[in-house]
Amino acid sequence: MPNATLPLSTNPNLCKWVEKMAALTRPAAIHWVDGSQSEYETLCAQLVASGTFTQLNEKLWPGCYYARSDASDVARVEDRTFICSHSKDGAGPTNNWADPFEMRKKLKVLFEGCMAGRTMYVLPFSMGPVGSPMAQLGVQLTDSPYVVVNMRIMARIGLPVIREIDKDQQRVVPCLHSVGAPLAPGARDVPWPCNPEKYIVHFPETREIWSYGSGYGGNALLGKKCFALRIASNLARDEGWMAEHMLILGVENPAGEKTYVAAAFPSACGKTNFAMLIPPPHFQRQGWKLWTVGDDIAWLKPDATGRLRAINPEAGFFGVAPGTSLKTNPNAMAALAKNTIFTNVALTPEGGVWWEGMTDQPPAECLDWQGRKWTPALAKETGAKAAHPNARFTAPASQCPTIDPAWEAPEGVPISAIIFGGRRATTMPLVYQAFNWSAGVYTGATMASEMTAAAAGQIGQVRRDPMAMLPFCGYHMGDYFRHWIVMQKKLRETPRIFHVNWFRKDAAGKFLWPGFGENMRVLKWIVDRARGRALGRETPIGWAPHYEDIDWTELDFPRERFDQLQLVDQAAWHQEVLDHEKLFISLHDRLPKELVYERELLICRL
Ligand code: OXD
Ligand code: MN
Repeated sequence: MPNATLPLSTNPNLCKWVEKMAALTRPAAIHWVDGSQSEYETLCAQLVASGTFTQLNEKLWPGCYYARSDASDVARVEDRTFICSHSKDGAGPTNNWADPFEMRKKLKVLFEGCMAGRTMYVLPFSMGPVGSPMAQLGVQLTDSPYVVVNMRIMARIGLPVIREIDKDQQRVVPCLHSVGAPLAPGARDVPWPCNPEKYIVHFPETREIWSYGSGYGGNALLGKKCFALRIASNLARDEGWMAEHMLILGVENPAGEKTYVAAAFPSACGKTNFAMLIPPPHFQRQGWKLWTVGDDIAWLKPDATGRLRAINPEAGFFGVAPGTSLKTNPNAMAALAKNTIFTNVALTPEGGVWWEGMTDQPPAECLDWQGRKWTPALAKETGAKAAHPNARFTAPASQCPTIDPAWEAPEGVPISAIIFGGRRATTMPLVYQAFNWSAGVYTGATMASEMTAAAAGQIGQVRRDPMAMLPFCGYHMGDYFRHWIVMQKKLRETPRIFHVNWFRKDAAGKFLWPGFGENMRVLKWIVDRARGRALGRETPIGWAPHYEDIDWTELDFPRERFDQLQLVDQAAWHQEVLDHEKLFISLHDRLPKELVYERELLICRL
């Protein structure tokens, strides 16, 4: 029998499952996580002692820790992520499917004794404010204390969650996680244990998650992508709500009127920056304010009156560090200034952190994300990066200066607009509004983006990423589109749907749009449209702003440049529509007919 702290739960099913999983994985000890500050501090001290964490300079970075992952464990592994639904068709062609029976057999072998020499943490967590009717509960068993301390920032964990679990009739999603590195008696541990063989496995019908081999991000913090998107998308389809890869933000106008929007952009396309946007000075002087509710995931549900309301199921930001600075995102910089865990950034000699883009002037020297000496001269000579491009900060959402007063409202916030967007050098204009809900679903279904470092894969390549959910939808994409279409019938008032592209380039390869705070100008038009206050110009793809519809105060942005940015190029769109067809062909047997008609209409208009 392993050494164990007393079970904190009286739920017999939970206790039995913990025992069963302990018998399979054979940890040296079991620790029920209460979620307290003192427990967090003890775990962090242990992580420092074991070499996983470096405590940062307390004066510069109070309460902050630094970790370096193994060089092979730096991003989500989509090709090792499986949806094991009963039928292959249930997962659809955009997911890796494996036979659930075969996969269970394989996992049993992998997990057999995999926690030897380690502690199994029993980590109860709530996605969404504890007790909210929109929240969902899970318990993650993990042999990674790094995961426990990150989860404490990213989700609500511990005793308050146990109290929810112990109430009758609560669904709890079981999540088993191991880094897959058993320790022989007396063996020395490495700072970042992991296994070259990785399996991130979802059983959608039984609502279970099994993750093996990785300690990093979405592979290991199972509340995030695995639960809040892949499993939750299944729950949402069955129960009439939506689990989406979206930020949520509130726009307050000078009259104090607040409009909430949700926006879906693929990984590392600036969701965190957009969620924490600071309006240009002229807007601030007028009294415009932006409020952050979430930066990555939204759960949306119709309320009793038929309005779509959203919660952020997370409690923290797991943000991409490179490119984040006082210039690009001062709110994120404030949020991560204390009580934050940094992974795979660079370590400075004074015990601080640095990453590319954080300051104009790099430090004279530092240790890179693999612990090697890095200097600006070396970077010039070899192109070596100090921080990994997918280096992350794990920061409490409550520390964000623009966190919305209603960010933990149990009933969520009302959503008036949904924005889709991607990173596209060509073809896609700065902004347009879909003609109606089904055209909007088409817009989201066909969106695409250039790939970034958030996932292992070929950077820069354009891939279709419907609703930014390609790696996260836990069932057949055709059924997912149908669910979107069906949702309209549950709503008395549908949010208006928009598409934006901050990344269009000119012929010389230069960005046409300044982005960042200036995106406020586009957001204002979106809010005005959603509130029925702005006229639009009809184009073949949707409603677009006239030059005069955008507030250009204090920005020198010539009309010709705007026309270039908004251009709907016939030839490029013909290509684009052909590419939509490629996605549709792969989904044809489950594609809602509305999307086929929308495509026909688009072709006719073009
Ligand atoms: C993320 C991602 O980490 O989308 O949020 O990859
Ligand atoms: Mn994401």
